[in-house]
Parts: sequence; structure tokens; C-alpha cells
Amino acid sequence: MPDKDLTTLTIRRPDDWHLHLRDGNMLRAVLPETARHFGRAIIMPNLVPPVVTAEQASAYRDRIMAALPDGMQFEPLMTLYLTETTDPDDVRAAFENGIATAVKLYPAGATTNSASGVRDFEKVRSVLDTMAEIGMPLCVHGEVTDSNIDIFDREAVFIDKILKPLRKKVPDLKVVMEHVTTEDAVDYVRDNHKNLAATITTHHLIINRNHILAGGIKPHYYCLPVAKREAHRVALVQAAVSGDKRFFLGTDSAPHIDPNKLQTCGCAGIFTAPNTMSCLAEVFEAAGELKKLEAFASLNGPRFYGLPASEQTITLRKGDPLKYPTHIATEDGPVTVFDPGFDLHWHVEA
Ligand code: NCD
Ligand code: ZN
Repeated sequence: MPDKDLTTLTIRRPDDWHLHLRDGNMLRAVLPETARHFGRAIIMPNLVPPVVTAEQASAYRDRIMAALPDGMQFEPLMTLYLTETTDPDDVRAAFENGIATAVKLYPAGATTNSASGVRDFEKVRSVLDTMAEIGMPLCVHGEVTDSNIDIFDREAVFIDKILKPLRKKVPDLKVVMEHVTTEDAVDYVRDNHKNLAATITTHHLIINRNHILAGGIKPHYYCLPVAKREAHRVALVQAAVSGDKRFFLGTDSAPHIDPNKLQTCGCAGIFTAPNTMSCLAEVFEAAGELKKLEAFASLNGPRFYGLPASEQTITLRKGDPLKYPTHIATEDGPVTVFDPGFDLHWHVEA
């Protein structure tokens, strides 16, 4: 059946391979928004202070499970924040004991709460060698932080200057290039088959840099890596809807309370958890590839991580424009929900 005639779509329950849940009041408010539709998520460790050790990851996982409303099912897959003093034995133990699923690499200063990230990659070499040995993936925030490099070029330069040499030195390391935003990154992943995959966010499939800057500045569309020009967005959509096993969903849903977004120096991050699946269905339908949504959101991710796909399903049903809140309330203040700029017709029955 052509996509335009499809009005329901049942897929395996999706997972989110890049998610910010935060802590405390924010965690309690945003966790149900993800757990409603998603079975598992890779949880980002950029708390203040960051989640560096197995012990910290275990405690954070306990706080997430304690915040999960009764009757909801959700499995947080924890990550360790890589620092220049990370202990390879702690990483090994965290992975082998099922406490952590991946390690997260932030180049120091690249994004929100990344000050403890890596400056000298030789200092983390023994951790990377250990991870390659045990098959533990490295999730990479792929942007250089050099202030001389134009912010729109930072991903492409990262691939050449950091990622290529790093993968040459540790070829057995499984790498996830996270939230890719450029055609350069898509091409690099497509051309390099071994041990490499990429996540794509919901918002980068929908907005380009005009959405942020043209006709007045739109802080709620500001995130890192920053959205690029339209040709890059189109390349991301092609990769996502292609069914290629190396591309999968990582929403990078990154909630900040509105006062922290709407100020002289506003935070980077877009909160897409509540309406992500409806947004994606629109994107895949517009591309005539609705049936590939399952590969992108539910199958390719677990395959790369060596985990089983979910045995549960969700059903998306097409109907009148979906009504969803513009904000969700937290005890710390409101968080604005991503506005894709068009009506969403696909309702999720989880
Ligand atoms: C993230 C955040 O707010 O923690 N922000 C963002 O714009 N994506 C950090 C990140 O993933 O870069
Ligand atoms: Zn992120």
C-alpha cells in the first residue's frame, strides 16, 4: 500500500539512543514523556557534576527508576562521562556488570555541561583500548571546540581532525557519531562500514538554520550541534528513511526551563520527547517511506548495540491534528515542547 493510503502503522516499541533526563524536579517531569512511547533510552551523563564512575551511574539509574510513575515500564541504559582521569578498570566493571552500556565523549567545552570533557585524546587511550576489547560503544559528541573554527563547520572538522585519527588508532572501537547534522557526517558513516553508526535527532530532520535565525531569533530551535543549511537537512532525511542499519534515532531531547533558554546567553537544547514519534511519522510519510520508521526508531539501534529489539509494539494512527501542550510544567518552571511548524496527524497508541 502506498504511504498516502496508510492510516495505521504498528511498529516495535521504539528506543531513544540519546536522551537527556536531568535530575530532581526536571527528571520527574520529563521521564514520563519518554517512557510513554519508548522502551529504553541511552541516558546522557552530563549532569552537574557529571556521571563519571560506575557507582555514580548506578546511583543515577536508581534515581531514574524511583522517578518512574507506577505502571510505566522503561529501561534506562546508562553512560559514563569520559574524562582524562577515567579509570579503565572502572569502565570495564561497569560494562561487565550491566551498569553502563556506553561511554560518552564530550570534547571539553563543546556543549552544555561539558567542561570536564576530553582535551588530550592520548590521555584516554587506555580507556578506549579497553572498550574496544570488551565491545563497549563510545558515543561521540562530534564537534571541535576551537574558537577559530566556524560553528557551522565544527562537525566536519571534527571528523577530519579527531574522528578519523582516533578510529585509525583504535579500529576495533564501536563508535556512535551522535546527533549528526551534516552531509559530511552522513557520507563518512556510509563509507566506513566497520564499527561505526550515527544517531539523528527528530529536530534535525525538520529544521534548518533559517528556522533559528530568519525572521527573528528563535531560542527554542537552538541546540548543539546547531542546525545547518537545508541541503544538510535533506541529507539527514535521506539517511534516516533509507533503512540503512547504521542510522538510528537519538532524539537528543534536552529540556531546559524557559528562563534558561530565553536570556542573553541562552542554553542549547530542544525538548522533543512528548511529540517525537508523531513528528517522525510526518517526516517519513512525506518522504514516502513510512514503513522504514520501524528500522530507524526500533530496529537499527538495538542491532548496533547488540541488544534484542523490543517484543512490544506501538501503533500510530492518522487522524485530526494532534493536540499537545506547548509547555510541560516542572517544579522549577515550564519547559517548551518542540514546535515542528506543521500539524501532526499521527497519534501514538502505546
Ligand atoms: C544538550 C544539553 O542540553 O544537555 N544540548 C543540546 O543542545 N543538545 C547537550 C548536548 O547533547 O550537546
Ligand atoms: Zn545531547
